[in-house]
Amino acid sequence: MTTLALAGAGLAAILGFGAGMWASPRRAARRPPAGGKAGGKEGELSAGALADMEEFYLEMVKTLARAVDSKDSYTHEHSERASVKARRLAARLGVEEPAARYVEYAALLHDIGKIGIDEAILLKPGKLTPEEYEVMKKHPIIGHQILSPVKYLGPVAEMVLYHQEWYNGQGYPEGLSGDRIPIGARIVAVIDAWDAMTSDRPYRKALSRDIAISELKRGAGTQFDPMVVEAFLEIEAGLEAETAVRRNGKVPPSA
Ligand SMILES: [Fe+2]
Repeated sequence: MTTLALAGAGLAAILGFGAGMWASPRRAARRPPAGGKAGGKEGELSAGALADMEEFYLEMVKTLARAVDSKDSYTHEHSERASVKARRLAARLGVEEPAARYVEYAALLHDIGKIGIDEAILLKPGKLTPEEYEVMKKHPIIGHQILSPVKYLGPVAEMVLYHQEWYNGQGYPEGLSGDRIPIGARIVAVIDAWDAMTSDRPYRKALSRDIAISELKRGAGTQFDPMVVEAFLEIEAGLEAETAVRRNGKVPPSA
């Protein structure tokens, strides 16, 4: 059995769990979970129960993301960080709910297609050969194939498909450019690049924060949407300030 077939079987098992519930949280909510509260009309759930259901979906998405992380060298914290930043960045760029939630899911799942890539390539310590790079470039398409049947995830599969596109059209798989790349994919591209640069990789140590910032700025307008980079750096500065406050044991005035 190939790695992809094994991974597919595992995913099918996870996605198959409560299969009807993956259609949509609102549709699924018509059938209350054990212990859930029924809403006013028969067959409807209270806002609280619906929120519980959405929380359940997020936990399932995080479970899938952890499955991806366990194969790559990223840590669980990588996905968590990416998820928080994606939601904030989407909000900063005017992406409203529920679209912002889908961006968060895409940030968690964007590299799910890597489970279909041979580990010898995925974890190779050195530079990839041109042939190996062509194999690696299939991961957005594999990710799209895995996620597109899951109706509940809506536009997430498309965001995953296009997360390696470049703003100037030099990316893959289709060479889309500018606003033709879905905004969710443009957001995920920046968050992914940041986390890749600031994490230890099989072939190098993490870059410093200052270098990562200058690399993002350098890629604005070529690899990345400049508007997304600008908003990301504002959010990152805010998160860094929050971390510094926590490190010093002080509570920010707004908390
Ligand atoms: Fe990727």
